[in-house]
Amino acid sequence: MTKYSFLQPYTFEIKNITLKNSVVIQPMTERMSFEDGTVTSDETAYYAQHTGGAGMFITAVANVNSLGKGFEGELSIADDRFLPGLSDLASSIKKNGTKAIIQIFSAGRMSSTAILRGKQPVSASAIPAIRADSETPRELSEEEVEQTIKDFGAATKRAIEAGFDGIELHGANTYLLQQFFSPHSNRRNDKWGGSLEKRMKFPLAVIKEATKVIEKYAKKPFLLGYRISPEELEEPGITLDDTLQFIDQLKQTKIDYLHVSQSDVWRTPLRDESSRQIVNEALKKRISNAFPMIVVGNLKTPADAEKASESFDLVALGHESLWEPKWVQKITNNEESAIRYSIAKSDLADLGIKPSFMDQIADTMGGYANMFKEEK
Ligand SMILES: Cc1cc2nc3c(=O)[nH]c(=O)nc-3n(C[C@H](O)[C@H](O)[C@H](O)COP(=O)(O)O)c2cc1C
Repeated sequence: MTKYSFLQPYTFEIKNITLKNSVVIQPMTERMSFEDGTVTSDETAYYAQHTGGAGMFITAVANVNSLGKGFEGELSIADDRFLPGLSDLASSIKKNGTKAIIQIFSAGRMSSTAILRGKQPVSASAIPAIRADSETPRELSEEEVEQTIKDFGAATKRAIEAGFDGIELHGANTYLLQQFFSPHSNRRNDKWGGSLEKRMKFPLAVIKEATKVIEKYAKKPFLLGYRISPEELEEPGITLDDTLQFIDQLKQTKIDYLHVSQSDVWRTPLRDESSRQIVNEALKKRISNAFPMIVVGNLKTPADAEKASESFDLVALGHESLWEPKWVQKITNNEESAIRYSIAKSDLADLGIKPSFMDQIADTMGGYANMFKEEK
């Protein structure tokens, strides 16, 4: 009997899919794809090296159409020609029983004319993001909104064909699904915007389309996850109450899990500094066992994961999984003292982290100075 509850298997009851443990590896954009989004052998090697321990591994995000690209070196699932590479990617992850989930999105306004090779980024409305160098996007026409929903469906079908065990819709971190939900980026007056209810329509339509495709094409149980960011700092922006109401709607859908993107599992509300409420606890209470919740944010040690696992269904590792591909195995083998909690430049080649990925990681850590431990 293990001393850690996060090492216990987890079963998604409705689909009857069992994860060998309750640890998830988070989606992390590695910018190692070819320019057009085709999977590279560097990518499959990275995933093959880092998988095998956790119950479920979520890939870097893949764009569902060419206007949805948000980064150089990003994966694409926008066309059938990507299928051979995506099949290799799925196989490289599905080792020792680890389930492979592919995260899919459109970046919307979080892109640029440079990344889109001369095309203007798109969004719910023509409102730029509040960040340095952001560009004013073009508002998607109603026809384009309908087409984007279909593109999410076509991407889901490709994920099934490539042999993944599920998809995760990336509704977090300010990308297109969140842009439709947000009152900052969505100022539309048609059926896709105006009220909170209408701002939920695009994410719900995408979920419905993905569900339809899964029911039609998946020959074995296939998971449908949804990732959210519970709040936005912008004014106007997504409030915790908006998200709680969105959860009420998600409970009417067939999603298999909700993945909450936060920098700290135990964070209190962004928009109300006086509140001591733990955001994840409020979300969990509202979900009330309708579907499981994955929590993330600064989980590093087995003790961190255990504490989170006592309150939530599945616990996910981000940065820590980059430095320590054998995190689960070391715990299982009673080698906890050998877990790596930092990285040195000399570790990068061994860990399969290429320069473009390194840049991406450094960006998330406020620069290289914070990324590398002191080297003797
Ligand atoms: C290099 C890097 C790339 C990331 N790319 C994605 C991504 O493609 N999709 C996504 O939802 N989150 C992405 N994230 C956010 C992580 O999934 C996670 O939420 C974040 O790192 C916080 O968890 P941690 O404290 O355990 O690292 C990325 C994070 C990092 C470090």
